[in-house]
Amino acid sequence: MIPQKSKARAAYNDAAFRMLGTMLTLKRVLDVKTPFDFCNALYSGRMVFLGEGNLSFAYAVASRLGGRASRVIATTFEEGAVHDDETQANATKLRSLGAKVRFGVDAGRCDSEFLLGSVDLAVFQFPNVGSRRPLFRRNPNHILVKRFLKSVRNVLSKNGRVAITVVNSSHYDGAFAMDEVAAKSGFEKPVAHPFIMEDFSGYSYRKTKLDGKPAIENDDEFVTFVFKPKVLRS
Ligand SMILES: C[S@@+](CC[C@H](N)C(=O)[O-])C[C@H]1O[C@@H](n2cnc3c(N)ncnc32)[C@H](O)[C@@H]1O
Repeated sequence: MIPQKSKARAAYNDAAFRMLGTMLTLKRVLDVKTPFDFCNALYSGRMVFLGEGNLSFAYAVASRLGGRASRVIATTFEEGAVHDDETQANATKLRSLGAKVRFGVDAGRCDSEFLLGSVDLAVFQFPNVGSRRPLFRRNPNHILVKRFLKSVRNVLSKNGRVAITVVNSSHYDGAFAMDEVAAKSGFEKPVAHPFIMEDFSGYSYRKTKLDGKPAIENDDEFVTFVFKPKVLRS
């Protein structure tokens, strides 16, 4: 006869296993197999980068754009004075391609930073406020993305889109709630593409300062959510 305690443990293990299964399946199922083509999303307007950390992603993309690199505006949240040598060097390299670099830009205030209707692609890689304290009872990163989408919507061009890359895990999917945030900010359900870090030579992900835990592990998968504004019908 199986002792009561062992039965309870087996039941607990079963429940834990089922919960793990649910968590594993909760990560975002990709809508397409191909990574998002950042360079192809530039038409005649601007490509803007928000929350760039050390500017290495903006530089990796801009260096593939040839003459169109002059239409890049790369921004960091932090003011220029706090940036280290690597970031300053990337700023210099971006400027030498003809791109613009701006410091101290809040992604939630895009409408006061960029011209109305001027942005073909707005990019925010791994948005993270570096705090877990809820804001309005929501994860603060959900609020950051919502502020970003609401403000950037006004400056998008006719074919303008927004690309946001995050870790693809049940934890992040729950925290960001991208479909919900899109619906509340006037966007269609975002299309989920795989993001392959190694495709961008020189890109060195920078974690948010003050955020105790590294947000990225070696075996993490990443997903780029591509948002298109809903067309208003009269
Ligand atoms: C995890 S880091 C990623 C940095 C960079 N995008 C990368 O991929 O290496 C998150 C970034 O979000 C920025 N951030 C936080 N709040 C922001 C805001 N309101 N507007 C713009 N950037 C913000 C931080 O300064 C930090 O650089």
